[in-house]
Amino acid sequence: MNEAVSRSGPGPVMCIVGARPNFMKMAPILRAFAAHEPPIPALLVHTGQHYDASMSDQLFVDLQLPRPDLNLEVGSGSHAAQTAEVMKRIEPAIDEHKPCCVLVVGDVNSTLACALVAVKKGVPVVHVEAGLRSGDRRMPEEINRVLTDQISDRLYTTERSALANLLREGVDEARVCFAGNVMIDSLHAARPRARSAADTLRAHGLDPVMLQSKSGYGVVTLHRPSNVDDADTLRGLLQTLREVAQSLPLVFALHPRTRANIERFGLAGQIDAVRMLLLPPQGYLEMLGLMAGATVVLTDSGGLQEETTALGVPCLTLRENTERPITVEQGTNTMVGRDHAAIRAGVADILAGRGKRGRVPESWDGHAAARIADDLWRWLAGRPAAS
Ligand code: UD1
Repeated sequence: MNEAVSRSGPGPVMCIVGARPNFMKMAPILRAFAAHEPPIPALLVHTGQHYDASMSDQLFVDLQLPRPDLNLEVGSGSHAAQTAEVMKRIEPAIDEHKPCCVLVVGDVNSTLACALVAVKKGVPVVHVEAGLRSGDRRMPEEINRVLTDQISDRLYTTERSALANLLREGVDEARVCFAGNVMIDSLHAARPRARSAADTLRAHGLDPVMLQSKSGYGVVTLHRPSNVDDADTLRGLLQTLREVAQSLPLVFALHPRTRANIERFGLAGQIDAVRMLLLPPQGYLEMLGLMAGATVVLTDSGGLQEETTALGVPCLTLRENTERPITVEQGTNTMVGRDHAAIRAGVADILAGRGKRGRVPESWDGHAAARIADDLWRWLAGRPAAS
């Protein structure tokens, strides 16, 4: 086995996507690389962690992402199997394409797997959305974040608090650059093309009249293993949502994991078919339209906490912690956990007009990817010449 040499190859920036939340982060980065003067060559690799049309292909269309240059087609599996499979399949791609660096985004298994292979081969790792911490190491994403940041050479942060997290973990400040939030670049780019909530419901054969209730409607997404993998927890959440739905009709975009568990645990009876409309995972333009028109979004997603803050729509996060504290401190986000009373009270406050208004955080301005392209270009130019 060769010792790693700390030198970049002569090839393109190898840009990795794997799972749904990666796609909205990578789309603006690729556009910014193409628009940079001179253009920054990029090679797009999809690990195939998410593979359903609704979880992957449709998002490529909605976000105007180019077709991946490579698809590793790893598919689903345990954390170990999935991570290992990505590692095995990315290695020959790095050998063949000799990237000048490997750029990973977010915190999914593909992020860590590709970063780990790259660093051991001496290829610099660039991490976009670095330094976010929930403080909860039971979350697989938290492990992915901590480890990816430890082995990254250039780290781009979305909020100022991330730097303090990185410094606490011994990351050299010189490696960190505050760039703002690339997810919000995607939101700005797609907003004019967002699909109306009524059109989305109609497309699924549902009656949009529900959206016109006096209180409007709420949007729900749930997929965290801590919320949906345990039968009692999922039952409790569905019961709470059923009660909420009596005063606020809900549109529920179901992740495949959640749909499978509702069936497996025999919980379909907990759904009020009239006031809780179930949809499959939505495209980006549909989700944007649904969120923008909502009275409140109830979610355990990381991305939706940020997107609702950017849209100024109140968000209740059904988790005990968040790695995105700025959405609570400055934005429209409130943490309600899984507590029945807290969720009901959060919704009641919003219906009474006491929802958080919030403000858009610093540098969530639609230009984060351009700042990354500029910085990365300078940074690459300052590194030793390719071998
Ligand atoms: C992954 C990410 C999570 C992210 C989420 C967004 C990790 C550790 N987790 O979780 O951070 O918020 O994506 O969706 O990387 N499945 C399908 N079709 C697909 C993909 C998955 O049916 O296209 C099903 C499979 O049964 C699979 C399950 O969903 O076992 C979970 O998929 P997986 O990629 O393992 O994790 P997510 O829960 O989606």
